[in-house]
Amino acid sequence: MYYPPEIVSEVRALNDVVDVVAGYVKLTPRANNHFGLCPFHSEKTASFSVNRDKQIFYCFGCGASGDVVRFVMQMENMDFPEALKLLASRVHFKLPEKGTSHEARNNANLRKSAAELNKRAARYYYDYLNSENSDAQNARKYLEERGVTQVLIKRFGIGLSPAIWDGLLTHLSDAPPEEIVAAGLAVQSRKSETRFYDRFRSRLTFPIIDQQNRVVGFGGRILDVSDKGSNAGDKQEAKYINTPETALFRKSEHLYGLNLARKARGSELIVVEGYMDVIAMHQHGFNNTVGVLGTALNDSHVRQLRGASCASVILLMDSDDAGNRAALRAIPVLTKGGIKVKILEIPDAKDPDEFLTRFGAKRFAGLLQAAKSHIAFQVDLVRGRHDLSTTDGRVGFTQEAAKILATLPSAIETDAYAAQVAAASGISPAAIHAEINKHTSGGNSAQMLTTPHNMQPRSQRADYGLIKAQKGLLHLVLTAPSAARALKKSGFLPTGEMSGDIYARLLALAYENAENSAKLSPGDIMDMLENPDEQQAVGEIFIDAPEYPDTSAMEKALNDMVKKIKLAWLDNQIEIQKTDLKAVNKLHFEKKNTLLLNITMRDG
Ligand code: UTP
Ligand code: MN
Repeated sequence: MYYPPEIVSEVRALNDVVDVVAGYVKLTPRANNHFGLCPFHSEKTASFSVNRDKQIFYCFGCGASGDVVRFVMQMENMDFPEALKLLASRVHFKLPEKGTSHEARNNANLRKSAAELNKRAARYYYDYLNSENSDAQNARKYLEERGVTQVLIKRFGIGLSPAIWDGLLTHLSDAPPEEIVAAGLAVQSRKSETRFYDRFRSRLTFPIIDQQNRVVGFGGRILDVSDKGSNAGDKQEAKYINTPETALFRKSEHLYGLNLARKARGSELIVVEGYMDVIAMHQHGFNNTVGVLGTALNDSHVRQLRGASCASVILLMDSDDAGNRAALRAIPVLTKGGIKVKILEIPDAKDPDEFLTRFGAKRFAGLLQAAKSHIAFQVDLVRGRHDLSTTDGRVGFTQEAAKILATLPSAIETDAYAAQVAAASGISPAAIHAEINKHTSGGNSAQMLTTPHNMQPRSQRADYGLIKAQKGLLHLVLTAPSAARALKKSGFLPTGEMSGDIYARLLALAYENAENSAKLSPGDIMDMLENPDEQQAVGEIFIDAPEYPDTSAMEKALNDMVKKIKLAWLDNQIEIQKTDLKAVNKLHFEKKNTLLLNITMRDG
C-alpha cells in the first residue's frame, strides 16, 4: 500500500462517508441508512444506501459497495493513493511525504512518467503523420481511401510511427530509455542491455485515452492495405499491436473512444470490437460508440460505462458463432452491472465499418432500431437449435426459453416474452408461465439477477434462507472475534461447506482473524480482499446486518445459522452421493447430530 495503514485509517476516520457521498448524491435518511439514487448505475428509485455507523455504502440495485475511499475511487475514477489524497485535502490533513513504501512510490512515479511520455509520443506520431514525408503521405492516402477524414484524424489523434528503429527514442532523448520502456513505448534489445528500439514502427497509431484524459497507451495498425495484415508475406506480423501491460495500461481495462463517446448526449452507448470500427461509427455520426480492445467485456468495462452515465448498450457482434458466444458472455456481465443490453448482429458485412462503407449510415440506423433485447437474442439462439416442426423440438425450445425468461426482473416483461414464445411454439402461455415459475421459486428473479452468480448456492434451487444465514454468520464471525473463535474451535463448519467461493473465502478470513481480538471494520476487510466481487459481498453482508442485544442472543443466532448452513450442505451431499447407501446413511446420522449442535461463546 502507498500509505501506512495508520494514515489510511486516520484519513478514513476524518471523512464521514455520509458527508462525502452527500457531496455527490442527494441523500434522504430512512431507518438506519441514508438512501439516494445510485451514481454507479442508472435507476429511478433510490436503492443506493449509505450507513454512518458502518461507514460504508451499498447499492441494492447493482451491488456497488465500499468505504469512503472506495467511493471516491469509483466516483472520480482514481486509484487508491489519488483518492486518499483528495480525502486528506478535504479535511486539511497533511499526508506524509515519507513513510511510503518504496515500491508503491515507484509505481506512482512510473504512472506519472508513462502518462507524460505517452502524451509526447502521441503528439510526435500525430505530427509525423501530418508531415511531408512520403511515408506519411501514403498513410494519409490510405486513411482517406478508408474514409477517415482530416477531422477524424484530429479528433482521435491518429498518428504514424516512422519506419525506423529509433524515431521516438531520439525525440524523447531527454528521458531515460528505461522509462520509455516502462511506458511501453520502446523495447530493450535482447542481445544488448544498452540497446533500445521503438516498439511502434511504421504503424498507424491510435492513442487510448482514459477518463482522466491521459494517454494511457496505443494501438498500432500495420500499414498494409490488405485486411489480412502481412500474414501473406513471409514475415508474420500482427495486424494490430498494443501497448503492453504497464503501470498505467492494461488493455482489458479500457474502452477505446469513451473519452469522446461520453460527450455524446443520451445514456445509450454502442460497443464494437475494433479501432477502425469505432472510428467509422463516429465518422457516420454514431458518436456514442466505444470499442473493446480485443478482449472480452468485463467488470472493469462495466465500471467505466457506469462512470460515463451509460444505462444501456447495444453490442454489435459479428454474426457468427464466435460473435454469438461473445455476446452470451457479455450479457450477464452487463446486466449484473445494472446496464440494459441489446444485441445487433451485422448482416452482409464482416464488421460495422464495412457495413457503413457499403450501405451507408441510413441503413445502419435502421439496423440499430431493430437491435434485439438480450432476452430476444438468447431466445432466438435457442430457437435456432430446435426443430419447431416436431413436438420434441417445440417442447425443448419452450423449456430452454422458460429458463431464460426466468431471469427477467419484471412480470410485465416476462408476460410479453412468454406470449412470443407461445406464438412460436404453439404451447399455451399458462404452461409457459408454469415452466418459468419452476425456475424462479424460492425467490424472486429480480433478486437472482443482483446476486452475483458465484455467490449463489451450489445447489440448483436458489435458497434465500441459506444465503441470509451465510451472510448473517459471516457478519457475526467477522465482527465478533469471540464468535469466530468458538466456531473455529468447534471444528463444525469447514470453509468448504459454505455455498460459493466468496463466502468460503470470507469465512477463512474470519478464522484467520479469530485469534486477533481486534474487531474488523468493513473497510479493513475490504482492504484485505483484492477481488471486487469479494469486496461487494462484504458490503452486502454489512449493510443490513442484524444487531444483537446481548451475548445470549448472539449465541442463539450463531447456532441457528450454523445449523441451517450445515443442514443445507448435508442435504446437498445426500443428493450428490445418493447412489452410495452407506455414505447417505452416515450423512443422515450427521444431520441428526447437527440438530443437537450447541456452540457456546465462552469456548472462544
Ligand atoms: P479486426 O481485424 O476486425 O480489425 O480486429 P479492424 O478494427 O476491423 O481493423 P481494419 O478494419 O482491418 O483496419 C478487431 C480488433 O481486434 C484487435 C484490435 O483491437 C482490432 O481493432 N486485434 C486484431 C488485435 O489486437 N490484434 C490483431 O492482430 C488483430
Ligand atoms: Mn475492419
